[in-house]
Amino acid sequence: MTTPSPPAWLAANPRARRAQKFGDAQRFVINPNGIPELCEELKACPAHKPTPLYALPALAAQLGLGALRVKDESQRFGFGAFKALGGVLAVHDVLASAASEAHHATPGFESLMKGEHRDITAGFVFTTASSGNHGRSVAAGAKLFGNRCVVFLPKFTSAAKEAAIRQRGAEVIRVDGDYDTAVAECRRQAEAKGWTIISDTSWEGYDSVPRSVMRGYTVLVEEIVRQWPEAPTHVFVQAGVGGLAAAVIGYLWAVLPKRPTFIVVEPASADCWFQSNLLGKPALASGNADTQMGGLACREISPVTWPIIAEAADWFMTIEEDEVLPARRRFAHPLDDDPAITSGPSGCAGLAALTRACADAAAFKALGLGKDSRVLLINSEGDLGEPLT
Ligand SMILES: Cc1ncc(COP(=O)(O)O)c(C=O)c1O
Repeated sequence: MTTPSPPAWLAANPRARRAQKFGDAQRFVINPNGIPELCEELKACPAHKPTPLYALPALAAQLGLGALRVKDESQRFGFGAFKALGGVLAVHDVLASAASEAHHATPGFESLMKGEHRDITAGFVFTTASSGNHGRSVAAGAKLFGNRCVVFLPKFTSAAKEAAIRQRGAEVIRVDGDYDTAVAECRRQAEAKGWTIISDTSWEGYDSVPRSVMRGYTVLVEEIVRQWPEAPTHVFVQAGVGGLAAAVIGYLWAVLPKRPTFIVVEPASADCWFQSNLLGKPALASGNADTQMGGLACREISPVTWPIIAEAADWFMTIEEDEVLPARRRFAHPLDDDPAITSGPSGCAGLAALTRACADAAAFKALGLGKDSRVLLINSEGDLGEPLT
């Protein structure tokens, strides 16, 4: 009997070499040094505490897996998404580096929060384009350090997400278009007005801030390493521009003795990484990114992440819109004693992908899934403004 080939929604990465070492090109994107110390420093933030890593043994057994763990970022900072880690830290890094240039000593979180360097930091106006969550994080960072903030939102972002951004003191400008239109407008206005862009995506000549944002995300990965000493064999991670995936893949690649199998997940209409993998260079999504998974609704990758994702993601896969609601329900109404998890449409994408892969014999086999697998998922957001009906 011949083995059926994997389905069209699953593509292997021809560049991935398991023997490849984490090198300088990767370290430039995700530097694992100092992350445990950063976790300590974050304790200065009043709302900060590690999010839980839940075990779901009943669902693992049903899917034919050895173990399944879910990092629940819906509980991050009382904020509801992992994005809280990125924007806040990037705002901090910009202010810290300005203060350090002026005073030749780098101030920590606490000192900036107390406004000890207002002479240098007060004049910064921060801005970003966002599908919602990142803008909320930048707004929270600006508020924490007492700076003005302007957030550009695409047409589709929910009113609840806009309200949550305004609630953190930021001004909001809606653009008549998608996420990429919001990025273009943010860049145009920032240049004209001298504002500092805190973007989670990179472009030619702009990568320092996105690298700070990803450094923030690595905090959640370091927490996972501490919470799960056996470590995963498989990681399903959802991608928009690829910042989260780069942090997860890069950090685990750098610190674990054995690199897990990494599977990058995207909505079929926003498959920029899937297409980039096929082409072997950054490529646009095949669709118009019209997806309910707002955090993943990106038509272009963040190019600075290439040396990590394009070289160490083992597989790229897409999911369909009608797989989202069942995945959210699965998290919300667990089997047996598994914990209930509140997820939003982008948050549950990893579970939607895992379920899809486990229901397809060829995909299950190609990914090397089975009774010995320990699978990690990241519930990257809760249900802010998008309650399960
Ligand atoms: C909830 C959620 N999950 C995943 C992502 C994807 O992150 P990235 O764009 O860094 O790939 C986002 C991005 O906004 C998000 O909001």
